[in-house]
Amino acid sequence: MWHTAAVVDHSYADLSLAALYDSLNPWGPGDDFYLDLVMSAGSVLDVGCGTGQLLRRARGEGHGGRLMGIDPAAAMLVQARRGEPGVEWVLGDLRTRHWDGAGFDLVVMTGHVFQVLLSDEELRAALTAVRTALSPTGRFVFESRNPDARPWESWTRDRVQEVVTADDSTVSVRHEVLGPPVGDRLTFTETFEGGLWNRPQVSRSTLRFLGSASLSGFLAGAGLTIVAQYGDWARGPLTSDSPEIITVARPS
Ligand SMILES: C[S@@+](CC[C@H](N)C(=O)[O-])C[C@H]1O[C@@H](n2cnc3c(N)ncnc32)[C@H](O)[C@@H]1O
Repeated sequence: MWHTAAVVDHSYADLSLAALYDSLNPWGPGDDFYLDLVMSAGSVLDVGCGTGQLLRRARGEGHGGRLMGIDPAAAMLVQARRGEPGVEWVLGDLRTRHWDGAGFDLVVMTGHVFQVLLSDEELRAALTAVRTALSPTGRFVFESRNPDARPWESWTRDRVQEVVTADDSTVSVRHEVLGPPVGDRLTFTETFEGGLWNRPQVSRSTLRFLGSASLSGFLAGAGLTIVAQYGDWARGPLTSDSPEIITVARPS
């Protein structure tokens, strides 16, 4: 039988999609990169922690300091809370708290969370909050996809990812870009099919793709100085072909 698609507000806000997140985003080189940093930092704030894979792993591997994950999607935190105890999971975003005196040694934004910050005001407010949450010797580390490499050109309908879920059903996921980028923003859909759903689930998202010059400008405006920048998870140099802009910044 033919069914129309269900449009979900955002995949992270939906309980069944959040439950699939870790299967669709298995541990990779980016997670290893961040885990090393987390393990050598005394206290860590993971902004947009999602299902909490990074901090759960760090606690599981013996990190003994303060670990806090914050995310506005309750459905994602449901998954996070199923894991290692002793991590503070906070529902909200960087505006939810006052960060004065928090003194984190490391603040991270992983999984391209940085790109969900769309407006200049949102970006400035988030970066200022990060700056406030850091200790004077702390580090802010995050990545953003490199717009020069035009990654969205490979987000085509024919590229289908399939995962087998915990109940042994198969879910397929495909992406479709909705038109060319508007300025530095790109809107696309993710369509999930199979599993326990009787019709496709479609979520629509917009991401911002800042180039490295704009990125530096926003960081400087918030009192953050870049100390290192890489183009890939092996710490290769940033070039126009690099997939990522991975940035390490410190309070100025
Ligand atoms: C692609 S997921 C990444 C999750 C996790 N960091 C990872 O690497 O697996 C993006 C996450 O950002 C969260 N998010 C959306 N808007 C946010 C905001 N304004 N501040 C912080 N997190 C946000 C979403 O709820 C979602 O969990």
